[in-house]
Amino acid sequence: MRRRWMSAVAVTVAGLLTLTACGDGGGSAQSPQADAAKKVEVFSWWTGPGEADGLKAMKEIFEKQNTGLTFFDAAVAGGSGDKARALLATKLQADTPPDTFQGHAGAELQGYIKAGDLESVNFLYDELKLRDVFPQQLVDQISVDGQIYSVPVNIHRSNVMWFSPVVLKEAGVTEVPATIEDFVAALEKVKQKGKVPLSIGSEWTVVHLLESVLLGSLGTEAYNRLWTANSDWSGPAMTKALNDFKTIMSYAGDPQDDWQPAAKQVADGEAGFTIMGDWAYGYFHNPPDGGLGKTSKTDFDWAPAPGTGGTFMWLSDSFTLPKGAPNRDGAVAWLKVAASKEGQDAFNPKKGSIPARKDADASLYTDYLADALKDWGSNKLAGSIQHGVTVNDAWRTAINEAVGLFQQSQDVAALQTALAEAAKNSGQ
Ligand code: GAL
Repeated sequence: MRRRWMSAVAVTVAGLLTLTACGDGGGSAQSPQADAAKKVEVFSWWTGPGEADGLKAMKEIFEKQNTGLTFFDAAVAGGSGDKARALLATKLQADTPPDTFQGHAGAELQGYIKAGDLESVNFLYDELKLRDVFPQQLVDQISVDGQIYSVPVNIHRSNVMWFSPVVLKEAGVTEVPATIEDFVAALEKVKQKGKVPLSIGSEWTVVHLLESVLLGSLGTEAYNRLWTANSDWSGPAMTKALNDFKTIMSYAGDPQDDWQPAAKQVADGEAGFTIMGDWAYGYFHNPPDGGLGKTSKTDFDWAPAPGTGGTFMWLSDSFTLPKGAPNRDGAVAWLKVAASKEGQDAFNPKKGSIPARKDADASLYTDYLADALKDWGSNKLAGSIQHGVTVNDAWRTAINEAVGLFQQSQDVAALQTALAEAAKNSGQ
């Protein structure tokens, strides 16, 4: 099977003081040095409902296999990790890295590599023969000059339209919208019924929506060209795509605090649609101690975001070995679990993702996840913007700022100019 791959903070320091890690490593009666050797600080942004379940499943395997080590959860709350990455940037700058941190395969990871923040993990790929189990194209996304810099734990899909079958029925939407035009017609019908047509969360969820609208409106080839020397950010196709975005956004409800409350509006039958990555599946489906315990096809259903059928917009979470990790051996032990079939098969069904490994146990991936596995193996590919595949942190920040301003101004021409500038200045 042939696949085409795309290679993919102005976060103020203010507010960082309020960011707290969830550390649950606990203390012990031993000396501080002995504690440090035991504790493995794992930095991510998987604190919220749905997200935390996958991490917990992998933590349990880690602690079972490494009785001398304690997992220290340094997760920083906030979907998509914008807040976590801001704190991480200050830690890396101060040479006080965590033992391992989550970074997206693609341009985001390449940024850490170029900055010299990461150690090569070729030794691990050699020891565990990992080159045989990960798709070569994925390894390319996390490599520079033959050195590999992370361990990918999953593949997520960004371009998923989640919807409430109950709300759609009430509104008389009889066909799941497959095109942007049909989507807008369906949004209008839901609006007429007095329900929220499209739920959104905090700012990043709007950029997440934008990437699906760009893909659906421009088509896969033109979308993938945006990240090459032949990009066209200023032409009429982009103007049309941004007008589509404006129309769709005119049906958005009040912004919720993050992606979970926005997704919950759909699962509770208060909203018709939300466009969100498939971490939403873990949240909908997992039992109520972490998820919503909802019933697939009854409380929620899914389809590719309008206009994107046949294309899998991908992203991949991967774990790194930062230079100067205080507990390097502990970090390597974590990476071994993250790389393993057992670790990936425990993590992914809970996380709402499919494994990065090619040899995982397919029988564990049922319902939505079976669809994802099938599409991953057969669809065209495109890289996510918001989740670090196609753009590095600086470029993503510029896109986020442009979209934030657009939410105030509703000025499509200004948005297009700002996006074209961001691309020009990206230096990527
Ligand atoms: C993405 C990340 C996913 C999920 C999502 C929402 O950036 O790759 O694993 O956590 O954010 O928080």
